[in-house]
Amino acid sequence: MKVLVATEKPFATVAVEGIAKVLTEAGMEVALLEKYTDKSQLLDAVADADAIIIRSDKIDAEVMDAAKQLKIIVRAGAGYDNVDLAAATVRGIVVQNTPGQNSNAVAELVFGMLVMAVRNMYNGTSGSELKEKTLGIHAFGQVGRNVARIAKGFGMEVSALDPFCPDEVIVEAGVKPVHSVEDLYSNNKFVSLHIPANDQTRRSVGYDLITRLPKGGVLVNTARKEVIDEEGLAKALRERPDLKYVADIRPDSADSLIAEFGDRVFFTPKKMGAQTAEANINAGIAAARQIVDFLRDGINRYQVNK
Ligand code: 3PG
Repeated sequence: MKVLVATEKPFATVAVEGIAKVLTEAGMEVALLEKYTDKSQLLDAVADADAIIIRSDKIDAEVMDAAKQLKIIVRAGAGYDNVDLAAATVRGIVVQNTPGQNSNAVAELVFGMLVMAVRNMYNGTSGSELKEKTLGIHAFGQVGRNVARIAKGFGMEVSALDPFCPDEVIVEAGVKPVHSVEDLYSNNKFVSLHIPANDQTRRSVGYDLITRLPKGGVLVNTARKEVIDEEGLAKALRERPDLKYVADIRPDSADSLIAEFGDRVFFTPKKMGAQTAEANINAGIAAARQIVDFLRDGINRYQVNK
């Protein structure tokens, strides 16, 4: 059995070594394709793979058709909007993710970016603190829960909206449940986005929600660029010079947003949220173990294309 680790954005070396150890100890062959620049390289590399481990790498029907032996795709991470699930299902390929494995890394970056925003991008002027300020968490999954835990350390007042999460879970975390998205944005100075990109959420955060933020509001996006209506965002920033937008995913209109709004916006050059040795080790090794469990023992955990 051959397992391809295909990561345009590579894992830390220590994580790759851990993945290889798990797979070789289970008698599997490991191939590595990192930093590829052209889809053709991926198409060649998957040709004889029984399984692939990916990150945000795009796996569409063409890639699946080039991988005649492919049985399982494991997305080492949480979001799986980069995999064509319907195409996988039709071809009998299992798609899994590794929920929770990189969530602390993403949550820590939320505060890295939020502190930077309230300290005026470290430009030397007087900024503000997070203590006793309101934070709205838009979706209370694994990342949202870690954000809540860290926010408590800062002494923030934390609320969360998540129609898929019971109120008890939110309350148990010491967080106030909110039941309307409008209320979440109107009543919190800072909002941190943790919704996935899907048909329900694409372009769902735009002018109306962003302009609800109280004076000095900051929207933090470590989720997906697709959930933002970028025209609405620009209009909101234009009308409300007090607002800021910081994101771990460069928007399509990044250059024009930077040109117009200067240091009221900030974007990491490449998605950095899960880019820590710890998160790479956790997610990468979990992915390798899930592949061994599936190919060797028929155990199917965390399938997302049922
Ligand atoms: C995820 O969905 O797990 C995160 O967005 C991290 O993505 P990455 O593995 O491409 O850094």
